[in-house]
Amino acid sequence: LLTIAAAAAMALGANAALANCDPGEIVIKFSHVTNTDKHPKGIAASLLAQRVNDEMNGKACMEVYPNSSLYNDDKVLEALLNGDVQMAAPSLSKFEKFTKKFRIFDLPFMFKNIQAVDAFQQSEAGQALKRSMERRGLIGLAFWHNGMKQMSANRPLLHPSDAKGLKFRVQSSDVLVAQMEALGAIPQKMAFSEVYGALQTGVVDGQENTWSNIYGQKFFEVQDGVTETNHGILDYLVVTSVDFWEGLPDDVRAQLEKILDEVTETRNAESTRVNEEAKQAIIAAGGVVRTLTPELRQEWVDAMKPVWEKFRDDVGAENIAAAQEINA
Ligand code: LMR
Repeated sequence: LLTIAAAAAMALGANAALANCDPGEIVIKFSHVTNTDKHPKGIAASLLAQRVNDEMNGKACMEVYPNSSLYNDDKVLEALLNGDVQMAAPSLSKFEKFTKKFRIFDLPFMFKNIQAVDAFQQSEAGQALKRSMERRGLIGLAFWHNGMKQMSANRPLLHPSDAKGLKFRVQSSDVLVAQMEALGAIPQKMAFSEVYGALQTGVVDGQENTWSNIYGQKFFEVQDGVTETNHGILDYLVVTSVDFWEGLPDDVRAQLEKILDEVTETRNAESTRVNEEAKQAIIAAGGVVRTLTPELRQEWVDAMKPVWEKFRDDVGAENIAAAQEINA
C-alpha cells in the first residue's frame, strides 16, 4: 500500500526509504539533506529507520526523507516546531537562529580531527549543548559525525591568497562568513541543495565541505580541484521538538533513545572511514586532490585563526580552553 508520504516522495523524485506505517503507530518523519549511501549521515539515518521499524513495529514507524526532498536545513527547524517532521540532523552550523553556542564548532582549526570533536562533545560542556535550546522548543538527542572540511574552487588553491576575490558558498553561519572574509574571499550563504548548480553556473567559485559531501553532491566535477586543508569540522545534531519528545509514552521514548544511542556509537566510529572512501572515490573518478606541505598549511592557519577573537564572547573563553585542552 502506497502511503501519502511515499506518493509525495515519489512525486518529488526522492529515493526516500519510506516505511509503510500501520494505523496506531507513532510516525517519525526524519528529514535530511544528503544522499543516503557513502555518507556518514545518510547511512546513520537509514540504519536508525531500519532498526526502529524492525524493533518498534506496532509502536513506532520512521520514514526518512533524504536529499532535501522534504525540507532544506533553513526550513527544517521550523518544520520540527510545527510538528511537520519529528527528527532531523542539520549540521551544527545551521542553528544560528537558536543558539550562538554552537559557533565553537565552526571556528577554523579549533579541532584537529573528529576524535577531538567527539571528546569535546562527550565532555560536560559538550553534553550541556544538547539541551541548550529547550527554551526555544528543540532538544538535541545525539551528535553525529561527518568529518573535516576541505576547500575547493574553480582555480587551484594552495596559498590562502589564492582564495582572494573568489565567491565561496558557505552554510548559514556567521563564523563561516567571517572565515571566508579573513581570506579576502566573498562568502555567500546558500542551501546545500543549491550548491552544485551555483558552482556549475559560476554563481559561486568555490565551497568548503567534507569529502563525503564533495563526493555525494559531485562538487568535484564542477571545480578545478579540492585542497586538503582539514581546516574545520562538519558535524550534526540529531534534533527533535520538546513537544514531540515529551509527548511520547515513556517506554517508546526510552526504546527510541536506546536505539539512537547504539546507532550513534556504531556509525560515529565509521565516519572517518566513510570520508576517506569518498576521497578515494573522487580520485578514482578523475577528481583532482591537492595536499599541502606543513608550511603551506600553516599559511592557512595564520590567515583564518584570527577569526576566533571575534566570536570568543559568543562561545565562551572557557569552552575554547576546554576544546584546546582536548586538542592538545
Ligand atoms: C552543508 O550545508 O554543506 C551541510 O550541512 C550538508 C550536510 O548536511 O552535510
